[in-house]
Amino acid sequence: MQRESAERAARVGIVGAGQLARMTLQSAIALGVDVHLLATSPDESAARVCANVSLGAPASYEALAALAEACDAVTFDHELVDVGVLRRLEQAGRCIRPSAETMAVAQNKGLQRARFAALGLPVPAFQPVGTARDLVDFGEREGWPVVAKAQRGGYDGRGVWVLADAATARDLAARAIPAGVELLAEAWVPVDRELAVLIARRPGGDAVTYPLVETVQIEGICRELLAPAPVSGAIEAEARRIGLRIADGIGATGILAVELFLAKGRLLINELAARPHNSGHFSIEGCVTSQFENHLRAVLDWPLGSTALRAPSVATVNLIPGPNGWDPLRHLPEALGVEGVSVHLYQKGFRPGRKLGHVTALGDDPAETRARARRAAELLAGPLPPESHQPSAISHQRGAADA
Ligand SMILES: Nc1ncnc2c1ncn2[C@@H]1O[C@H](COP(=O)(O)OP(=O)(O)OP(=O)(O)O)[C@@H](O)[C@H]1O
Ligand SMILES: [Mg+2]
Repeated sequence: MQRESAERAARVGIVGAGQLARMTLQSAIALGVDVHLLATSPDESAARVCANVSLGAPASYEALAALAEACDAVTFDHELVDVGVLRRLEQAGRCIRPSAETMAVAQNKGLQRARFAALGLPVPAFQPVGTARDLVDFGEREGWPVVAKAQRGGYDGRGVWVLADAATARDLAARAIPAGVELLAEAWVPVDRELAVLIARRPGGDAVTYPLVETVQIEGICRELLAPAPVSGAIEAEARRIGLRIADGIGATGILAVELFLAKGRLLINELAARPHNSGHFSIEGCVTSQFENHLRAVLDWPLGSTALRAPSVATVNLIPGPNGWDPLRHLPEALGVEGVSVHLYQKGFRPGRKLGHVTALGDDPAETRARARRAAELLAGPLPPESHQPSAISHQRGAADA
């Protein structure tokens, strides 16, 4: 006869069912944690592989209340939630991690900038703008080009526009403002490298930082991760300090990812995500404890795991087929023939420009490790843009038509 365990498994609810939830699920399996998902469709990346899926809108009070009722803690795969709903759940005594307060900051780039500045941390000049006049005045004051951003809802460079002059600024304002887009103006930064630092933080404040990673961005989309980032120890230490300061400052619980610019030898903060993040995918094979496992540990208020690198060098390449690319499923067996590369496919429908998976290689030499990961990625999804260290190469007025 089987003996029933007196202990029941911990239960975590995740709002959203994209690839981040899917990879969190992989860590949950190892720890014996039950995951319940709130998905909008059974075809979503994580919903395809999870036993407990409810369908509902991420902003629905009823849907979230049911999820919270079934779980010890509720966490998130994305920021597209209603903070008012989260506040009501907190008032009802539900465990929302990260908190409504942290999610409010995470979903608004204007609020983020204001909080970073209030903490005395380095940010580019910025200003929320409500009219074309405000935007043009900002450019005249700070100098052109100006970067305009949608304060909410942007991703992969959608909702980011580089404005060369007053005419392009007026043009963007004329399209975006009537469409209800709240804009933030920022000084354009001459970026040498883009970096990211991840922090895992428990509710009581215990926290660990991950090794600083370089995020190679092309046209506003993260294409590759290189860890450790090729920067001085002083820059790495400063980035970790900034990350911890922000995590404490906004009371983060779980993973916090902070995107940074390195410009003229100085760090400036770009933005944050209060959840596992694309910039932490290298940690699955690359670190002793992945960002997904530490997110679960933090959300459940369990001890955090070591973030030490498992190899001198780690490279991750996102699978984002270009216009001449193909579905990663087509050449999977060939890519698996590349020695020492781990493949992650998200089971998302093929569409050029979409992140469909990633590959990670570990090695001793950064150039060889990166080349190996790129070889597998090219077999899987087609030609990659050339290796580039021009991360701020987002084109002028990119995405203006989408506003
Ligand atoms: N002030 C700036 N100066 C120069 N380049 C910038 C600036 N702000 C953003 N960028 C470039 O645009 C990219 C996208 O900006 P940002 O990270 O704000 O947008 P996002 O679309 O929300 O990104 P994500 O996909 O990380 O959510 C940055 O990674 C960087 O390459
Ligand atoms: Mg970003």
